[in-house]
Amino acid sequence: MLQIPDDLRSIPADHEVPGYLRNTYNWAYLDPRNCRILDNELIVGVILFGNHVRLRNAALAEIKTGQSVLQAAHVYGTYIPEVAKRVGPTGSLDCMDIAPIQAALCRRKLRGMPHARVRLADASKPGNGIYDVVSCYFLLHEVPDDLKQAIVTALLQRVAPGGRAVFVDYHRPARLHPLRGFYRKLFERLEPFALSMWDTEIRDMGADSASFEWSKQTFFGGVYQKVVARRIA
Ligand SMILES: C[S@@+](CC[C@H](N)C(=O)[O-])C[C@H]1O[C@@H](n2cnc3c(N)ncnc32)[C@H](O)[C@@H]1O
Repeated sequence: MLQIPDDLRSIPADHEVPGYLRNTYNWAYLDPRNCRILDNELIVGVILFGNHVRLRNAALAEIKTGQSVLQAAHVYGTYIPEVAKRVGPTGSLDCMDIAPIQAALCRRKLRGMPHARVRLADASKPGNGIYDVVSCYFLLHEVPDDLKQAIVTALLQRVAPGGRAVFVDYHRPARLHPLRGFYRKLFERLEPFALSMWDTEIRDMGADSASFEWSKQTFFGGVYQKVVARRIA
């Protein structure tokens, strides 16, 4: 059984995990045994078809030493501690996750890094802080469409003037991509909220997108995207 670190004992006993997470992703994010197996850089590499280092580096390239970063949810593998290392002790990292077990895994990775903290929160209600960078890494495809909009809107509100929000997620593969059919089937069977990422631009998910300059880069024949929204100062 996974050990929950002492400092997560403050989690309210009645903390609710949303239905979409319980019903669709229990096996991936709530089952303690599977969480332990999946939270591994090798497995992340397999899930992302070997693109994990490229995608992680693309997101990290948007973060500088000394900045304040809000992380919308826990990410399996080394992404979270890499962000903490990147901002360094002169910066800060504020991580959220909605699931206690995921918050625990995240906190465990950040031991010995006092400039990083982890809290239990819904990414659509991230609090009142303002950050240089807001990072949302492979979260949107796992939540229902109305929540995608609420999350993008709420995260954009947390970006400082001149700061940026960085979204890395799935995207519509090129028309002749050999894995397009595979991804469609995979999403239909296992990830029912992912297919809408093929039809909707992230910039169109949030309110107030006109206050930002948007850029998009795709990877692996369009399967993945990095979208950066820079708040016009
Ligand atoms: C970031 S996403 C997917 C990451 C990716 N598959 C990986 O780990 O490599 C997975 C995390 O999102 C969390 N999550 C789901 N809905 C959330 C929400 N509304 N707010 C915050 N965290 C959420 C889950 O508990 C889980 O830890």
